Amino acid sequence: MRIAVVGSGTMGHGIAEVAAISGMEVKLIDVSWDILSRARERMTESLRRLHERGAIRESPEQVMARVEMSISYDVAKDVDFAVEAVPEVLELKRKVFQELDRVTPKGTILATNTSSIPISDIAEITGRRERVIGMHFFNPPPLMKLVEVIPSKYTDEGVVQFTVDLAKRMGKVPVRLRVEVPGFVSNRIFLRLLQESCREVESGEATIQGVDYTARNVMKLPMGMFELADYVGLDVIVDLWKVITERGAEDVPCRMFRERVERKELGVKSGKGFYSYP
Ligand code: CAA
Repeated sequence: MRIAVVGSGTMGHGIAEVAAISGMEVKLIDVSWDILSRARERMTESLRRLHERGAIRESPEQVMARVEMSISYDVAKDVDFAVEAVPEVLELKRKVFQELDRVTPKGTILATNTSSIPISDIAEITGRRERVIGMHFFNPPPLMKLVEVIPSKYTDEGVVQFTVDLAKRMGKVPVRLRVEVPGFVSNRIFLRLLQESCREVESGEATIQGVDYTARNVMKLPMGMFELADYVGLDVIVDLWKVITERGAEDVPCRMFRERVERKELGVKSGKGFYSYP
């Protein structure tokens, strides 16, 4: 099976890695060789960790031999399935889908890893809207089991089933959503938890550290809310929050997030967010 992944950032390189681990031939596409080379390093490092603790049998080199990187969409000309994982900007996603629609065979399924944009809005730009679907992974894709599968009002039942089976083949636990609500299910819950955590801190009732301590030690979550926000990227969260707000579903992104993004304090990736990462 051949799969294309467009966008090699936080989610894209992880999705490509998961696909390669499950034996697929992967075409990873991005806009520059610098970005792709960074993705190669991150994938190799993650594969090394998985190999070291026996989670995968093949060496990182053996897995990476199935991954072809490219700055041209032409490598996707014979793929069976494509997943897009570029930033949460509708116009950008629509451009990627136009390209994929042009290059891939007519039967290829085109999936988006969007965490908030309605799938129909993306599907409508293509000439095959019944073959477009949402396939939403979680960070870090090699470790997180859940995959949300989101059909749009146009998606064929066979396409939904294929995507569910593909997620299983990748060792994931697919959850099929019944309707296309803004933010799907996981992120609506996630943003509400973040909103409440922010309120506690902004009202002076708690500290960032106190909220995170409670999340880890009382709610037994693997990370505190603010730690998790830093891990995902505050810019990613603000974008997500905006998309959902524009569709009338949630409160606006809370001040503590907006201020940090304005100061370019984006979390782990920029060295500072709610915490510092030397
Ligand atoms: N690849 C391979 N291995 C990795 C890895 C990666 N990317 N990240 C961590 N690991 C390994 C570590 O090497 C470590 O291995 P050993 O036990 O052999 O040492 C193991 O995983 C545990 O890692 P850590 O000790 O560093 O930390 P941890 O125990 O806290 O686990 C975690 C890390 C799995 C990320 C865990 O903290 C966790 O589950 N956090 C919550 C993640 C989450 O909620 N993600 C969803 C975010 S929302 C989203 O993605 C949706 C959206 O649309 C915005």
